[in-house]
Amino acid sequence: MKRHLISAGDLTRQDALLILDTADELARVSDRSIKKLPTLRGRTVVNLFFEDSTRTRISFEAAAKRLSADVINFSAKGSSVSKGESLKDTALTLQAMGADAVVIRHSASGAPHRLATWVDGSVVNAGDGTHEHPTQALLDAFTMRRRLGALDGRRITIVGDVLHSRVARSNVLLLNTLGAQVTLVAPPTLLPVTVDSWPCEVSYDLDAVLPKSDVIMMLRVQTERMNASYFPSAREYSRRYGLDRDRLAKMADDAIVMHPGPMNRGVEIAAEVADSARSTIVEQVANGVTIRMAVLYLLLGGETQ
Ligand code: ASP
Ligand code: CP
Repeated sequence: MKRHLISAGDLTRQDALLILDTADELARVSDRSIKKLPTLRGRTVVNLFFEDSTRTRISFEAAAKRLSADVINFSAKGSSVSKGESLKDTALTLQAMGADAVVIRHSASGAPHRLATWVDGSVVNAGDGTHEHPTQALLDAFTMRRRLGALDGRRITIVGDVLHSRVARSNVLLLNTLGAQVTLVAPPTLLPVTVDSWPCEVSYDLDAVLPKSDVIMMLRVQTERMNASYFPSAREYSRRYGLDRDRLAKMADDAIVMHPGPMNRGVEIAAEVADSARSTIVEQVANGVTIRMAVLYLLLGGETQ
């Protein structure tokens, strides 16, 4: 495995399977009443968050703590970033405090890549702009594998605001590496122009794809990244691309519903679908801790370094 985890595309099939298998082992620890392992004692993990987060930030913190690492949480709000301090100077300040791994979320695509040239430790991308969110893709693959078994030949449909979604890009790359067949479903306005070069199919007809899918992954409509009108109204969007009870009924019996969160209930996913037995949304959050433990464990090399 490489020293950093910046893109899901950097993972070979062997790397990806190693992370998933390690997470399987670590999941057993998460099921115990005492969840802590001494593996990363004496190592420091810095969580550097320039963009809001609930799940990713908390789960990286929980993952590092369960491995007994020291954790420094940095959030841009309330820091000297508001005085104009640059990413590079912020990174060098944290480096001076001795970071073995830096987990970064930033609104600029490419920020983790730049950071990796400035710090000595491992850099983990926790979401950069509209580019990538590799640990989300890993936790999604882990969740699918636990529910469905090996992903080779499985049909995964990702629906919604692909244009602004780093989750979609990382999932397409990783799922392709793992041998799954991915179909993106979105209005033409919410697909990136480069989508033809992605290793997946594209469809505009959710109802046609639903019955053939093993997984339906709904994406959040990311209004905070929209500077124009991409669809006529939320109601119209829901009608064509939302997952409601009627559409759920068209899915195969053992097919699952996923969403990375946070959800716009009633827009891309109906509340009753989000809360149904077919939904893995809460499971995805729990699996996020396990996957992030596996990533930190493998990047920091446990006790051997
Ligand atoms: N939480 C995910 C992300 O940060 C998905 C989303 O925000 O819709 O990319
Ligand atoms: N899924 C995800 O990345 O959630 P947060 O934005 O809350 O971290």
